[in-house]
Amino acid sequence: MAKRMITTELMEEDIKLESTLRPQMLRDYIGQQKAKEKLKIYIEAAKQRGESLDHVLFFGPPGLGKTTLAGIIANEMGVNMKTTAGPAIEKPGDMAAILNNLQEGDVLFIDEIHRLNRQVEEILYPAMEDYVIDIVIGKGAGAKSIRLELPRFTLVGATTRAGMLTAPLRDRFGVVSRLEFYTTEELTEIITRSASVLNVEIEEEGAVELARRSRGTPRLANRLLKRVRDFAQVKYDGKITKEVANFALDLLDVDKLGLDEIDREILRTMIEKFHGRPVGLDAIATTIGEDSGTLEEVYEPYLVQNGLIIRTPRGRMVSDLAYKHLGLPLLEEQS
Ligand SMILES: Nc1ncnc2c1ncn2[C@@H]1O[C@H](COP(=O)(O)OP(=O)(O)OP(=O)(O)O)[C@@H](O)[C@H]1O
Ligand SMILES: [Mg+2]
Repeated sequence: MAKRMITTELMEEDIKLESTLRPQMLRDYIGQQKAKEKLKIYIEAAKQRGESLDHVLFFGPPGLGKTTLAGIIANEMGVNMKTTAGPAIEKPGDMAAILNNLQEGDVLFIDEIHRLNRQVEEILYPAMEDYVIDIVIGKGAGAKSIRLELPRFTLVGATTRAGMLTAPLRDRFGVVSRLEFYTTEELTEIITRSASVLNVEIEEEGAVELARRSRGTPRLANRLLKRVRDFAQVKYDGKITKEVANFALDLLDVDKLGLDEIDREILRTMIEKFHGRPVGLDAIATTIGEDSGTLEEVYEPYLVQNGLIIRTPRGRMVSDLAYKHLGLPLLEEQS
């Protein structure tokens, strides 16, 4: 599938914007009450005891603020953060080197942690548990294993695919937090904050309209804000009103629920090919030409969250709301 305007994954155009808009401290981080409360307590406790924070795992769909929280943890703890990503670490020796270079208290952030290979992952087990690594020196009969002590560090892992994490790795995190989609109110607040950072004038109703179409995701909210700002500048007097927001978002093919053509295609496929009845994930995936893992963890959550798709023990079915949203008549047997 081509890159979508409403993708919640990082796009080239987001990079600069995100570094400007990323909240630095917990108090600037809007929403995610549950994750925030938990972190606040753990951070305070660790600071009082003068210890490093327990290892933290964040999981949830793209763009909800996992990387942001990792940075916030380091800032709140007053320590440095080293950043790497699962696919970037190829050999156990690379992992050992990264760990060995950490300073006392540092945060090691591993993005896409589900993509670490098995041998690299095994280095992490004793490192996380006992702050040591075992390295083998030499080869064959002369080989010997030596144990290196590591400073106390905090591993922060992030993943969009929690299901792909191995049990031994998952079990070594003391704090596991799932990030949730944001409410329209929370996104309105995020958009208002971003607009003020960017010096853009926005009316409350304009912010609400943007929030509604942002798929519960701050990354998309900020991207849409930037796009709509351009419209406001060129076609209007710079201020984002409800009218400007509506006009621009319609033109960008982001509908009232934040769906784009692909979302509607998924729903239409389920209605037209499978009559809206329960159908297996694999069947839908094959029909739209996507792998079922991606469908389940990238495309589906938002549709489920909004009650457009219902998960049943017999498979996925579309709701009445989906028919209504697409302007399709309900089937007899369904109504
Ligand atoms: N709670 C929040 N309050 C305000 N802004 C936020 C919040 N969460 C995220 N953002 C904004 O959204 C952007 C994307 O968030 P972030 O990069 O942390 O997402 P992510 O979960 O790490 O995504 P990915 O899975 O793609 O790595 C941030 O740069 C920030 O501007
Ligand atoms: Mg991230």
